[in-house]
Amino acid sequence: MIGSACGKVILLGEHAVVYGAPALVVGIHRGATAEASSIASGAGDVLASELVLGNTIRVCAGDDLDVARAFAALLEACDVASSVRVEVTTDLPAAAGLGCSAALGVAIVRALDGWRGIPARSPGDAARRAMAWESVFHGNPSGIDAAAAARGGCLLYQRTETGVTLREIRLAGPLSLAIGHTGIASSTRAMVEHVAKLRARKPELVDRSFEGIRALVSNARLALEANDMVGLGRLMDLNQMILSGLMLSTEEIETLCRLAREAGALGAKLTGSGGGGCVVALANDPEPILRSWEKAGFRSFSSSVLPVSADKAERSEAP
Ligand code: PMV
Repeated sequence: MIGSACGKVILLGEHAVVYGAPALVVGIHRGATAEASSIASGAGDVLASELVLGNTIRVCAGDDLDVARAFAALLEACDVASSVRVEVTTDLPAAAGLGCSAALGVAIVRALDGWRGIPARSPGDAARRAMAWESVFHGNPSGIDAAAAARGGCLLYQRTETGVTLREIRLAGPLSLAIGHTGIASSTRAMVEHVAKLRARKPELVDRSFEGIRALVSNARLALEANDMVGLGRLMDLNQMILSGLMLSTEEIETLCRLAREAGALGAKLTGSGGGGCVVALANDPEPILRSWEKAGFRSFSSSVLPVSADKAERSEAP
């Protein structure tokens, strides 16, 4: 039984989204798949369930490791009562701000549903259950990664005290993105904690920054709906300035942004938690940006926005 989910890029609004501001996120063409199958050994013991990721990860749900604990939490959220083997694959770099863990979590949920013979549930339901896995890795994530992983498309995501608001933004035209990797792993948990500490020391600076980001996101939504790519690019640049002010940028991120702009990007910024990870650049033509990044030694790829597709978002099927 195979389940899949997509990776994501936050166009604008990361970090502020943790504090209740809206953020814009898009699903990308890279993602994760999971395949669930029965195992004979220890059939009655759910903690004997295995999770395998190529040659990198091979754990049992009962092991004393974060990834095993996350897997066990997911099995519980999916009401799995007997042992299962889940093999996952992904073409997303880990710890890079592209939602790799959320894509894996949602893909596993879908594979487990398929294995248990449960008809495909809503993307919201898959995302909600994937949060059991996400919380082990990231502490108290906003949920934006899981929402995007389960749906694709372009979403305005907001988590408030009363719950989550999700609006699908209908793009007036294609959105072409170049994504460059600093080559440096970044911990979402550490970067979110960094912002929390900064806010404790300098509440006015951080809250003013979040207000600025909130205004940028609201304008970016209008720009997207009007297909104003030049406007959207400027707003991304401004978002990057604010994120730098919160000390989330690095030399590599600044270099990637500069090279992208020099190669014709309409805007460029870090995406995800910062402190490493990836940069996203908006471009009419991503090719010169990718060439410039590769020449400077950065790995990169392009993606348009993954359309919202019932096929992709809901798939949980027999191979
Ligand atoms: O680094 P990522 O892909 O997990 O994205 C993190 C986005 C944050 O806003 C920094 C955290 C969150 O939980 O929303």
